[in-house]
Amino acid sequence: MAQVRWAEDGVRQTARWHSENGTPAPARVIVIDDATGANTALRLAQPDTVLLWRGDFENAKHLLKAMDRRLQKRESRTASARDTELGALFHTHRAERAARAELLGKIVIALESDYTIRLRRAPDVRDACAHAYGPALTGDSPGTTLVSLSELIGVIGAYQWHRTGIHVEALGARITPAYGVFTPTRDEYLDLVMEAPFPDSAPHPVVFDIGTGTGVLAALIGRRGARAVLATDINPRAVHCAAENMRKLGVAELVSVVEADLWPTDPKLRADVVVCNPPWLPGTPTSDLELGIYDPASEVLHRFLDGLANRLTPGGEGWLILSDLAEILGLRSREEFLSRIAEAGLEVVGTHETAPRHSRASDTSDPLHAARSRERTLLWRLAPRSPR
Ligand SMILES: C[S@@+](CC[C@H](N)C(=O)[O-])C[C@H]1O[C@@H](n2cnc3c(N)ncnc32)[C@H](O)[C@@H]1O
Repeated sequence: MAQVRWAEDGVRQTARWHSENGTPAPARVIVIDDATGANTALRLAQPDTVLLWRGDFENAKHLLKAMDRRLQKRESRTASARDTELGALFHTHRAERAARAELLGKIVIALESDYTIRLRRAPDVRDACAHAYGPALTGDSPGTTLVSLSELIGVIGAYQWHRTGIHVEALGARITPAYGVFTPTRDEYLDLVMEAPFPDSAPHPVVFDIGTGTGVLAALIGRRGARAVLATDINPRAVHCAAENMRKLGVAELVSVVEADLWPTDPKLRADVVVCNPPWLPGTPTSDLELGIYDPASEVLHRFLDGLANRLTPGGEGWLILSDLAEILGLRSREEFLSRIAEAGLEVVGTHETAPRHSRASDTSDPLHAARSRERTLLWRLAPRSPR
């Protein structure tokens, strides 16, 4: 783990550096406290510099909110005259959010080796940090670790979700999400998986769930009468989370979960149904969580399509769940998608479609509202193309 060095009241200090999104360790640390206002913090937040908070914990959260408000105001001032084209709007919006997150990430907190925070009104984050980071961030020797306050707030929020769980109507049960794992907060696509018919050749199919996340689809399909489900994910946090969910839902005998890049490692394994809800938007992920959202140049989607025919039993089907948001934004075209299906030796044997029910679809303050309000989610039933 990288080290950070600075002087404070004439005393040399060192700490470890931790960043979930791979932000490199800063070269410079400036100590700030309750006397520091948002404008000063934004001025001090230079490249390679972090601002170490030594004041009241709640005040640090207020400072972060005040900085965020100022940055958002600047964004809306520059937004007015530009980007009526949706694709450009999406890229600008994502870049602005990333730039804002980078600046806000400069407010850092010292976490002790037992995950306590020695600040006034600091919450007890020991369990939340152990959930996100593992039993200790510190390796063999004790010491302080600097983490950004915004990351820590994300860790605390994720732990609250983890403790409460989310009720999944289609499952009639709660799923337990985890830090860094895609959480099925929008659930319309679960209904599509419930209504798609199993192939005639396999009324009790063997199923692969590719990119299982919390394992929600694996559990749903298991409950629908699958004979066995093999779920994969490239994110070790997802593998652990899904395996725990299968145990809690009592389907661990039916569903096994393994870490893999798309396909189960044994190339001989075949499934009657392969379900996949891949990341929906072409783009580069910047964290474990974004692995569930962004797919660089649709590479995961293309590899899924290219590999599918070889992984199906005769009569088997692939169920690919995709929103058309990328198409509406001009990041991928329907023609391009359909020709990739044909090039992979597949054909579409059916589609199931739904409109999103999540709150962002009707949020008119969202810069992408025009696109989100038109969005549809589809389940594409794909099969190897029959010989003509
Ligand atoms: C949109 S999320 C879907 C999660 C879950 N199936 C659901 O419907 O809630 C996509 C998932 O694919 C996983 N993923 C991304 N790239 C992958 C790859 N190359 N191989 C396996 N899983 C991958 C992500 O980690 C994430 O859990």
